[in-house]
Amino acid sequence: MTAVGIDAIEIRTGKLKLDLPNTFAPEKGDDPAKYTKGLGLNNSSFPDVYEDIVTMGANAAKTLMDRKGLVPEDIGRIDVATESAFDHSKPVSTYIAGCLEQVYDGDFTHANKGERKFACVAGTQAIDDAYNWIRAGRNRGRAALVIATDTALYARGDPGEATQGAGAVAMLIDEDPSIVELSTHQGYGSKDETDFLKPNQQFPSVDGKRSMQVYLARMREALEDYQSVAGKVELDDFAYAPFHTPFPGMVRKAALLAYRHVIRDTSYEDDLAGEIGRQPREAEYDDREAFEEAIREYMDELKGTDQYQAWYADVVEPTLGLAREVGNWYTGSVHVARTSALRDLLERDGDGVGETLLVGSYGSGAQAEIHAETVCEGWQAEIEALDIDAQLAARYDLSWEEYEDVHDVHEYDKELDREIEEFTAPEAEFVFTGWGRMNERKYAYIA
Ligand code: COA
Repeated sequence: MTAVGIDAIEIRTGKLKLDLPNTFAPEKGDDPAKYTKGLGLNNSSFPDVYEDIVTMGANAAKTLMDRKGLVPEDIGRIDVATESAFDHSKPVSTYIAGCLEQVYDGDFTHANKGERKFACVAGTQAIDDAYNWIRAGRNRGRAALVIATDTALYARGDPGEATQGAGAVAMLIDEDPSIVELSTHQGYGSKDETDFLKPNQQFPSVDGKRSMQVYLARMREALEDYQSVAGKVELDDFAYAPFHTPFPGMVRKAALLAYRHVIRDTSYEDDLAGEIGRQPREAEYDDREAFEEAIREYMDELKGTDQYQAWYADVVEPTLGLAREVGNWYTGSVHVARTSALRDLLERDGDGVGETLLVGSYGSGAQAEIHAETVCEGWQAEIEALDIDAQLAARYDLSWEEYEDVHDVHEYDKELDREIEEFTAPEAEFVFTGWGRMNERKYAYIA
């Protein structure tokens, strides 16, 4: 069977940044360590006045197409995943295609376009759709462009304000991919939940603490479902485990649970038994409460063991590098985590072909999905070509007052009593230019 997977990736960050320990924490009266150590975040990315989900997505897509030497006719699908859409009918993919058609000779007339919604898991679902389209033989030799793009803004004063972010990840899904091959096997954990939602409102209603519990529960179900088809996951099977990263502290919690689950009844559990005992088994306890208390104690001790710490440092920590600097990108977040892992692999090991990743996506509402990916020939050139370090270094560092202005500019229903100037100068990129006669958003390419 021909391999299908991710052939190219491009990342586009919002061009502004908010420094969490130095600018946000003092205004909130918080210890900076709450952000750097607790949540695991240094900075959040924000869109400049002329940026939005369309410009970030189109700019990422254009960079990808130019680098791969693609023309519009090479693309048979454009799927956009977002939870920041501004239109209930016209999909963001049509706006992005419209932008790209301004700069290429050809057009996307015969490309199928859509928009995927299921909170942060939608980016992975859009990859699934592309995978299935190719596997079904309907692609006519063409590739699919999947774009995960979001401005993850929360209402001012909401606890989620600390975990904001903005950016886009464009991915080319194709046969014989140059980055990773996707596994056929997948596992799902899905239930009707109300942990995070936006019922006809721009900023989310979030029960942050509940969302963390739901994330862990659905991820566990997805792992069990994955194992039911792919066989037991062994600790040494995977070089990295990129997970959805609303903030790195969330992944720290998920990783500990996953580790406990995976080492149960293995030699790794036996090796730890002398130091912290074996994992509590429910049958050994009179009631659920006593069992849960014992589990909590075991987890606290497990977290401190050298064995766990070494695994975490190798397999999980490298997936969090970019997230620490950009915050939550919702649909793009797990794809940012995969990219961080591959950047680490590049530093660690020049070869890396055949290494596998266990990828865990999550969307509130709620659904988790787990699958495996195998690193393919040619991945190094794709990852080396990323210019994300230069983009991060070039971001404009917002003062508190400027941050308040930027938040206001991007709040749809806010009547502004002042003109807010752009903070950076657009160059070789798509920009938002205003509204058209039917209230559509308009874009232009600035050379
Ligand atoms: N030093 C080190 N760690 C510190 C600290 C300090 N001085 N102060 C606080 N912390 C830790 C806390 O212990 C906590 O970590 P823990 O959960 O491991 O105990 C972490 O920092 C966060 O502190 P907390 O008080 O829980 O923060 P909060 O109540 O302000 O909100 C969230 C945190 C995550 C609930 C909130 O940011 C949120 O709702 N985010 C949005 C989440 C979301 O969008 N989910 C949906 C998509 S998955």
